[in-house]
Amino acid sequence: MELMSCALGDLSPWRVRDAFEHQRGIIVRGAFYRKSVENAQRALGRFFADEAELKRHPFDDDTRLGYTAPGIETIQHDPEHPDENRAMFDFGPELPFVDRSITGLRFQAVRICRRVLDLLDEAYGTRFARLPEGEHRLRAAQYLREGTTKEDVLFPRHRDFSLLTAFVGSNEEGLEVEVKGEWHPVHLGHGDVLVGAGTPLRQFHPSAKALWHRIVGGKDHRLSSFLFYELRPDVVLPQTLETYGEMLDRIMKSIRA
Ligand SMILES: [Fe+2]
Repeated sequence: MELMSCALGDLSPWRVRDAFEHQRGIIVRGAFYRKSVENAQRALGRFFADEAELKRHPFDDDTRLGYTAPGIETIQHDPEHPDENRAMFDFGPELPFVDRSITGLRFQAVRICRRVLDLLDEAYGTRFARLPEGEHRLRAAQYLREGTTKEDVLFPRHRDFSLLTAFVGSNEEGLEVEVKGEWHPVHLGHGDVLVGAGTPLRQFHPSAKALWHRIVGGKDHRLSSFLFYELRPDVVLPQTLETYGEMLDRIMKSIRA
């Protein structure tokens, strides 16, 4: 079975709704400027190669931005299982400046998320796109284990807790999504994006279930980037009645060692 995808110019409310109901997200081909994604990928590669520079921007618990060294976050909220396999960097609106292309990547990822929310609103009569936005985080993650194969699960099955996640295509294989109990590899070229639902989205509409995904091996030094589209911290989630900020605090405490 092929995953549903759509060219940027062919996006429509029903296409987005069908894709979200079938596979909990939509692949949009050619959503980003190809060159800018290639440039950003190269810039991130240089950035991650310079550990001293990474360490100059340690992760900040208040802004949730900066460098997370391997072994800090846990897998499946289990303190017995620190994630030794990933180095991560979260970029915010004030990046820090690495390269102009990273700013561009973040901007394009926010824009495609807004577009998808608009189309979902047209399909469902919801007001997702009117929800006050938080400070969206662009995360780059580098996988460190070498010599892995597609049988190795580098990061296990999980859902994200952003409203949406935009997985930026850069020809780095390894992302898989679960559709009706089966795993499917996601092939994203430079410029393509998968916009998937996070857990909070369903609180605003029962059909908007979150995307289950995982990362498998097969490529050394896999470097991926994705945008967490966030809500403003004071937005109340209609089902649990906690604010988005309270939810994030609770989850971050449970996953960071
Ligand atoms: Fe994820």
